[in-house]
Amino acid sequence: MNQSQINRTKTMVTTLFLIIGISLSSSVMAFDKEAGKAKAEQVCAACHGMDGIGILPTYPNLAGQYVDYLSKALQDYRSGQRSNAIMAGFAATLSDEDIQNLAYYYATLKDHRLPTLDIK
Ligand code: HEC
Repeated sequence: MNQSQINRTKTMVTTLFLIIGISLSSSVMAFDKEAGKAKAEQVCAACHGMDGIGILPTYPNLAGQYVDYLSKALQDYRSGQRSNAIMAGFAATLSDEDIQNLAYYYATLKDHRLPTLDIK
C-alpha cells in the first residue's frame, strides 16, 4: 500500500465508525410516542389521566415531567428500589421499551402542566 491508499483506508475506517456511532446513539434515543400513548391509554390513564394530570390528588401528575425522571421512577418501581404497592404491579408488566415510550409520551404533555398550585 502506498501513502494515498493508506490515507484512503484511514478515511474509510473513520467514516465507518462514525456511521456505527450515529446509528447506535439514535437507536438508544429512539422513542415511539404513539406506542407510549397507546400504552398510557390502556393502563395508566385510569389514574394519571390521558393529559398526565392525576384524576385524584393522591395520583401524581406526570405531564411535562422530565423523561429521565419518569423512566427512572418506573425502573425503580419495577426493581423494587422504590416501593409502592400500586405502581410495583403496573411497572412489573413494562418492558424497557414501554418505559422509554411512556416517559417520553408524558414528558411531551407540557401544555397540560398545572398553571398554578391551588393550595387552600
Ligand atoms: C391504580 C392507579 C394507578 C395506575 C393505573 C398507574 N399508576 Fe402510576 N402512580 C399511582 C400512584 C398512587 C403513585 C404514587 C406512588 C408513590 O407514592 O410512590 C404513582 C406514581 C407514578 C410515578 C411516579 C411519579 C413521581 O412524581 O414520582 C410514575 C412515573 C407513574 N406512576 C407512572 C405510571 C405509568 C406509566 C402507568 C401505566 C403503566 C401508571 N403509573 C399506572 C397510581 C397509578
